[in-house]
Amino acid sequence: MSSTDGLSDVIPHKSQIWDVSATGAASLRGQARTGWTRSGLMLALLLASSGCRYGEMYDQPKFKPYKATSFFSDNSSVRPVVEGTVAQSGGVGQEGTSVYLTGRASDKTFVNELPAEAQGKNLSEVLTRGQGRFGIYCAPCHGVDGAGRGPIVLRGFSPPPKLYEPKVVNQPLGYYFDVITNGHGAMYGYGARIHNPADRWAIAAYLRALQLSQNAPAELVPGFPREEREQLQSAGPLSQATTHTDAGHVREVVK
Ligand code: HEC
Repeated sequence: MSSTDGLSDVIPHKSQIWDVSATGAASLRGQARTGWTRSGLMLALLLASSGCRYGEMYDQPKFKPYKATSFFSDNSSVRPVVEGTVAQSGGVGQEGTSVYLTGRASDKTFVNELPAEAQGKNLSEVLTRGQGRFGIYCAPCHGVDGAGRGPIVLRGFSPPPKLYEPKVVNQPLGYYFDVITNGHGAMYGYGARIHNPADRWAIAAYLRALQLSQNAPAELVPGFPREEREQLQSAGPLSQATTHTDAGHVREVVK
């Protein structure tokens, strides 16, 4: 601790806080005295600076909530919410026990199909929407291919499981909706960020398409030459190949 550094002088060192020996106690008392001197100074400064006089900043004209006024033509001091305003939390359509908002049936088990409200015009539209949202919100960690090697993970964030691992694939759609909405372990929830529940369902539906794409046998891909198919299969997932070209320390993190 340097004595020229004013701040570190008044902040007790961790070892001193936990030191219950006589010397530790004495040194803590010393710290306390410095602390009091500082608080006294702050108080004096505060009193000196509270010179805002009546009629200036301290006492401004204001409306108490819901007070009537003749100033606005609707006689209300409360102004209407700007059209299109989105509630940050607890907004309309965010709270409730429906399948659409929880991913769960009435017996609390997760459903495995899209609720009617999330079906859109057709499945292809829903999947395209889901793909877009996945790219924005999920790929930074899970990677566009779901292998869990997105840029945030390559910089040290806990690596998530592959989204096409059996343990994830075997989960029902409602479970994905719940993970997206409320988070899971080290992953935080996206309920407040992806505000529209239909978008969260669209991502959940897209996860199924992603899983199929990563586990699909090459025979399912029409017009794909046999030799190329075999080459591709022996090369392993794309993300592994990308990882190997990265710097050594990054490889350490993602192993
Ligand atoms: C900031 C990084 C990050 C982002 C962004 C992220 N996740 Fe995750 N995700 C994780 C991590 C880490 C785990 C593993 C959590 C654990 O087990 O502690 C995880 C786990 C999961 C799981 C598996 C849960 C299980 O049962 O093991 C699913 C499904 C999932 N995420 C989906 C998504 C979707 C969909 C999005 C986009 C809306 C998303 N994640 C965004 C980091 C992230």
